Amino acid sequence: MVPHTGPLLVLLPGLGAVATTFLAGVEAIRQGRVRPIGAFSQLGRIPLQEDGGEQPVPEVLPLAPLEALHFAAWDIFPDDAYEAARAAGVLQKQDLHALRDFLRQIRPMKAVFDRQYVRKLDGPHVKQGRTKRELAEALREDIRQAKAAIGAERAVMVWCASTEVHLELAPCHRSLRAFEQGLERNDPAIAPSQIYAYAALQEGIPYANATPNRAADIPALEELAELKGVPIAGKDLKTGQTLLKTVLAPALRMRLLGVQGWFSVNILGNRDGWVLDDEGSFRSKEATKSEVLDGILSPQLYPELYGELYHKVRIHYYPPRGDAKESWDVVDLVGWMGYPMQLRVNFSCRDSILAAPLVLDLVLFLDLAARAGWRGPQSWLSFYFKSPHVRPGEPVHHALAEQYQMLCRALQGLALRWRAAQQTLPQA
Ligand SMILES: NC(=O)c1ccc[n+]([C@@H]2O[C@H](COP(=O)([O-])OP(=O)(O)OC[C@H]3O[C@@H](n4cnc5c(N)ncnc54)[C@H](O)[C@@H]3O)[C@@H](O)[C@H]2O)c1
Repeated sequence: MVPHTGPLLVLLPGLGAVATTFLAGVEAIRQGRVRPIGAFSQLGRIPLQEDGGEQPVPEVLPLAPLEALHFAAWDIFPDDAYEAARAAGVLQKQDLHALRDFLRQIRPMKAVFDRQYVRKLDGPHVKQGRTKRELAEALREDIRQAKAAIGAERAVMVWCASTEVHLELAPCHRSLRAFEQGLERNDPAIAPSQIYAYAALQEGIPYANATPNRAADIPALEELAELKGVPIAGKDLKTGQTLLKTVLAPALRMRLLGVQGWFSVNILGNRDGWVLDDEGSFRSKEATKSEVLDGILSPQLYPELYGELYHKVRIHYYPPRGDAKESWDVVDLVGWMGYPMQLRVNFSCRDSILAAPLVLDLVLFLDLAARAGWRGPQSWLSFYFKSPHVRPGEPVHHALAEQYQMLCRALQGLALRWRAAQQTLPQA
């Protein structure tokens, strides 16, 4: 495994609530103001000894330290990260003020954007290009310049931009050749998120998709990731309601309690909520939020318990709440002798506060995976996503406990490899 040296560039398409909360948090941790709550890469432990003893992740894995992280972003608005964070309204004024100098330095580059894919937004800070191929080349040039500016040899991209409309798999997604021809002839099936993913992979940069739209999870970009030897991960961060759903549903299945209905409703009032108010973008979200229950309850194996399950997911834009999302779940259960019961869950959370530590973990773990020579979809990172991107034919695991085991096993393997490599080094 290649050890960590030098700077690591974090590339963020989308400088909104999630991205700025992530940036502010990393800097606040570096300044010793806060603890890295919620980040497994910083506070997690994995079993590494025969007696089952658990070791701190940062001590047993050669992760890039937070001090090595540098940042670059793209957005359709020219506001720097300080202004963008203020507009997002997640963090309090005094917290942002303390991080102002750092956040002010992060000014977004012009975005690749098209309203056709995010109908509720428009902004002035956008690249012009004759073809999607030209736009991809412009992003590649941005990446090369951002790396050169800090002397970085490595980078990771995490797509944190608005959710794009749902796109079906199209012929231009099926192979790299077809995709590149599609870029040339401006195929409408190629969305901006896919152009960013293509640019990152061409530059040999690991890519994660924090949002539900189809990006690197198409055969063309899987092929490119394999070709370039780059790990990819996605999609749609599993933060609030779905996180709890993937804890509760396995418990009901283990107890063999029937589920007739699962009604999930959310209210949120940030820009993400505004974008998701559009039917096209909501369809992307609905797909990733809905598939988890079937994956966990296996109605094909238990038709008498889950065959009739009615699963309804709704998101409502409600401005007074801002980023402080609230979700309600009502689950209609069936027990012994067919008697009905109900379970109600009410989670008042903060969307970006839950998402930011996951972005940090993904950056550090994808960088580590790349240095270990892992390529293509990284199913061991399923823990972070509502709709895990796995290799074709590989089973998808939605239950959080299973995903946690997969994460720990992979990190354990990497830690043992790293330890063995250290032991074979010549002693100075
Ligand atoms: N916060 C969570 O818990 C959570 C969980 C899962 C997924 N997500 C997803 O993460 C994404 C970011 O969420 P957010 O709350 O930060 O949203 P946000 O609206 O605050 O930020 C998104 C930013 O992306 C920019 N943008 C849109 N299209 C772009 C493009 N093509 N290139 C560059 N920038 C572009 C917008 O101008 C905006 O500043 C959303 O898609 C959301 O659905 C969030």
